[in-house]
Amino acid sequence: MPESPVLNPPKESLVEQLKVGEMLSIAAEPASIVIFGGAGDLAHRKLLPALYNLHLDGLLPPRSAIVGIGRKAMSGDQYREFAKDGIKQFSRRPLEDHAWETFAADLFFITASIDEDASLAAVGSRLDVIEHERELPGNRIYYLAVPSSLFVPTVKQLHRARFVAKHQDRPWARIIVEKPIGQDLESARVINDAIAEVFDERQIYRIDHYLGKETVQNILVLRFANSIFEPLFNQKYVDHVQMTVAESEGVGTRAGYYEQAGALRDMLQNHMLQLLALVAMEPPYSLDSEVVRDEKLELIRALRRMEGPAVDESVVRAQYSAGFDMGRPVIGYREEQGVDAKSRIETYVALQIWIDNWRWAGVPFFLRTGKGLPKRASEIAIQLKEVPPILFNANKSAKLDPNVLSIRIQPDEGFALGITSKIPGPQARVYPVQMDFHYGTTFGGTSPEAYERLLLDVMAGDQTLFMRRDMVEAAWQWVMPILDRWGGQTSEPLATYPAGEWGPPEADRLIEATGRRWRNP
Ligand code: BG6
Repeated sequence: MPESPVLNPPKESLVEQLKVGEMLSIAAEPASIVIFGGAGDLAHRKLLPALYNLHLDGLLPPRSAIVGIGRKAMSGDQYREFAKDGIKQFSRRPLEDHAWETFAADLFFITASIDEDASLAAVGSRLDVIEHERELPGNRIYYLAVPSSLFVPTVKQLHRARFVAKHQDRPWARIIVEKPIGQDLESARVINDAIAEVFDERQIYRIDHYLGKETVQNILVLRFANSIFEPLFNQKYVDHVQMTVAESEGVGTRAGYYEQAGALRDMLQNHMLQLLALVAMEPPYSLDSEVVRDEKLELIRALRRMEGPAVDESVVRAQYSAGFDMGRPVIGYREEQGVDAKSRIETYVALQIWIDNWRWAGVPFFLRTGKGLPKRASEIAIQLKEVPPILFNANKSAKLDPNVLSIRIQPDEGFALGITSKIPGPQARVYPVQMDFHYGTTFGGTSPEAYERLLLDVMAGDQTLFMRRDMVEAAWQWVMPILDRWGGQTSEPLATYPAGEWGPPEADRLIEATGRRWRNP
């Protein structure tokens, strides 16, 4: 009897292969990770848990120091408690006593205010002592986990206090800043200019955490490590592409920030344009970070700009009103704490976008994102053209479902290919079926959090998954005419949708006017 094919390689060998790949590509160097805003929410929920998981995996260098800096008066012990609490609540994997002990030995806290020179000088001396005692080479990562309005003053202070020298090579100094980089093109340029006065572009790591997600990294693998998809990814075969990034929660406690942002600035300008670039870019000739980032930039530059009334035709913005979140009644956006009762900030945006290049000419891309939607789910769907209306597709009133490749970014990570199959039996009846891949069942366990991968890459000096200055500015450049148009519309009624529904009817009309429909993930 012939041997049955092995569908999944045995787990051990797969894990071994992954480990080899990991070791070859990512080697973190010993460093101090200095977190400004070290006692803040981002450090608590994301950064400290991510570093702990890297430690659990043995991926942190054997010697390192994680130094939180903040205004709060906190002792080292209190900071370790703060970190422990964050890990207990938010870590991907549970706290283990032994791993925690060794991790906690790397944690420090320094109370300081960046606008006081003396305070910063004290930080410098303390860092020197910590590095000396732990025999660290002096490599430093400065993580600005502070509101973007503090980027410029913090960087200026780092410079004044001589924490960093431009082009500094050995020991190296790197800086991490988070999106949002600015409020608009102009403020983004101001921030980028200020950072560039102190750091060389090679030292700057601008985080868009979507790029650290496993499924987002897999987009390039799916496209360029398989021969089945790439030949189809163009205007000849693709009917349209849809992207949905949905969140069920409302604005929560972040009204202060969100009232200055809205969905277009918060999600579209960065996360969604990055996803779009990965899905639609040309194949890079190598995986070198500059080459990959050049190709992504090209794609953003090829987006057709919308000006004036064209914005109204192709972009829908809306706000959630009172409704439900998982069956629980919830208030509308304007009633949320900290939100202006007349706020015109959008919690939802849907767009029809065109990419004016040879590959995608004539293929519409529909993007939507919002808070207060029925569930947290992000999906990219590439819908292929219909088969000709003959043979199995001859019946006009019962058309075949087109093939769709759907890439599930979260939470059920994986992808599916919708195809048509025959129903067993004597008749020629057909049925849409799915070829479905789930990360969880194939690889087991949970995928690393985006921040784990991103922090590791900064320690290893790999900038591929970070946004280069020109990319950030090109994305703002494209978004600005939309913001300008909205800025001039101060009295037009704003569309709404009840929390818990898939956006306003205006967004349905946007896509349905082209004879297509949203796919709800
Ligand atoms: C952040 C936005 O960048 O991304 C938030 O500021 C949003 O408003 C979050 O909730 C979504 O991230 P994720 O990883 O939960 O999809």
